Amino acid sequence: MKVYITTAILTIVLLLSYIGYSQQFWQNSTLPVDEEQQGLNKQIVINFSHVVAEDTPKGQAAIKFAELLEQKSNGRIHVVIYPNGMLYNDNNELKALQNNDVQMIAPTFSKMTKTIPSWEVLDLPYLFHTDEEVENVLNGRIGEQLLNQLNHVNIKGLAFWNNGFKQMISEEKPLVRLEDFKNIKVRAMPSKVLQTQFELLGAKSVNTSFDELYTEIENHEIDAQENTLSNIYSKGFYKVQNNITLTNHGLLGYSVLMNEDFWNSLPQKLQEDVLSAMKEATEWNFQMAKEMNSNDLEKLKKQDHIKINTLSVAEQNKWKLKFKPLYSLYKNHVGATFLKEIQTELNH
Ligand code: SIN
Repeated sequence: MKVYITTAILTIVLLLSYIGYSQQFWQNSTLPVDEEQQGLNKQIVINFSHVVAEDTPKGQAAIKFAELLEQKSNGRIHVVIYPNGMLYNDNNELKALQNNDVQMIAPTFSKMTKTIPSWEVLDLPYLFHTDEEVENVLNGRIGEQLLNQLNHVNIKGLAFWNNGFKQMISEEKPLVRLEDFKNIKVRAMPSKVLQTQFELLGAKSVNTSFDELYTEIENHEIDAQENTLSNIYSKGFYKVQNNITLTNHGLLGYSVLMNEDFWNSLPQKLQEDVLSAMKEATEWNFQMAKEMNSNDLEKLKKQDHIKINTLSVAEQNKWKLKFKPLYSLYKNHVGATFLKEIQTELNH
């Protein structure tokens, strides 16, 4: 009986000890601190969504910005980039930014003209003649004023980036003479100036988002489009369209945007890091854009099936004359201020 009682008591003591140990009753109630894990909690993540390939002026500048910002902020900010429209496309990326579902996007300024009509000025054909002119305007005083237009829509404008000049690319026939545009379907980004530009030529302008463009060309829903050589090469448009005309008629550039509440939530030091990383990435982008477009032209020239056409000076003058009404259209639609400022700056 004695043995039985002793065994029972021992079993109860052992059982209680085990339960106590497994529930950590004997341990200090403060858990050990893991500095690294605590650091992770403090890390701020910027999700940056865009629609083009990584191997483009915008794709590369986004990567450069991410690297610079991580360095400058000593790892406090981590930028995760989502290229190729893998998260959002032309039609929903602005909403995603405004909802803070992503913290950064970089749409073409043409795609922002519904929200900021004055930016249509940048779509006017033959407004800029050289990359240097583009850089002076977008990176200077006028660029700053244009970015400030975003204050009305609670978006923080960080910079303008460049892609380069647009060229025409078509499948059936080359687009050189103005008559070549008669009754064809040309894709235009959602900008009044761009859509009217093709209508002035007698074409039908079709608004297609960038992620659907390849398929629509393949399905013959679109005959032609304007784009930069870097987009034509990186997105593989040259596989489904074989006539390129080097027109350099318009600019394709980007506004780099951040959710304003997110921006305001950053401590001042981190805001300074963002601006400093953006300044360096922007300078780098302008340089890269020139290089990538000229490298991609060489790659396109090597494709046997691609025919590269150029405009004679006489032909180009006809294009310029045809597009003249767009300048009045812009002035009537939005006002003359920015156009005058740019023309004065460029001495045109
Ligand atoms: C882009 O470069 O972001 C896309 C341009 C386009 O929609 O053609």
